[in-house]
Amino acid sequence: MATALDQDSNSLFSTSLISPAVSEALPTGYSVRPLERSDFEAGFLNVLRVLTTVGDVQKEEFEKRFDEMKAGSGYHVLVILDGEEKIVGTGALVVEKKFIHSLGLVGHIEDIAVTKDQQGKKLGLRIIQALDYVAEHVGCYKTILDCSEANEGFYVKCGFKRAGLEMAHYY
Ligand code: ACO
Repeated sequence: MATALDQDSNSLFSTSLISPAVSEALPTGYSVRPLERSDFEAGFLNVLRVLTTVGDVQKEEFEKRFDEMKAGSGYHVLVILDGEEKIVGTGALVVEKKFIHSLGLVGHIEDIAVTKDQQGKKLGLRIIQALDYVAEHVGCYKTILDCSEANEGFYVKCGFKRAGLEMAHYY
């Protein structure tokens, strides 16, 4: 029989960081949990395709990246599953360690995606609430993200407000 410890060893981060309130608020049969090493098979990368180009990533490459993230700590990728255990949403919180603000921790929200046929069911909101819970519980003093103008309204509904300006160098 699988124990909570076995489950955690396959998980990117501890299941104790999953918000009980978010789990309860999901539609009946849906669940939220940390990304697992076996999620390549559950269609994880397909969900990210609604966001951007993913590329032709093979299972071994996915697992290598998963292992790097797990060893690095600070990576919290979570997934939402529908009633048939299919991944329908994902989001990530990356925790940055700083010297300033008394060795403060800043959460970066990245790669939020909900499959097209599941959008509009508050799953995006639940993903953000779940990531906020992780950020608070690991001790972040703030969480920030970059998004397009088209998504600003979504993040405002999630409680974020515009702050600063994004700039980029591409290599
Ligand atoms: N503009 C304004 N309001 C929006 C938008 C939008 N683009 N999207 C959703 N909302 C509103 C909804 O109407 C809802 O409002 P309500 O509470 O008044 O009913 C509220 O925001 C919550 O919406 P959800 O149902 O939780 O949104 P959904 O599950 O559809 O997820 C998401 C939103 C994640 C943006 C989804 O549409 C998606 O995956 N889009 C494609 C990928 C993408 O653009 N991801 C974000 C990239 S930015 C980043 O990753 C940091």
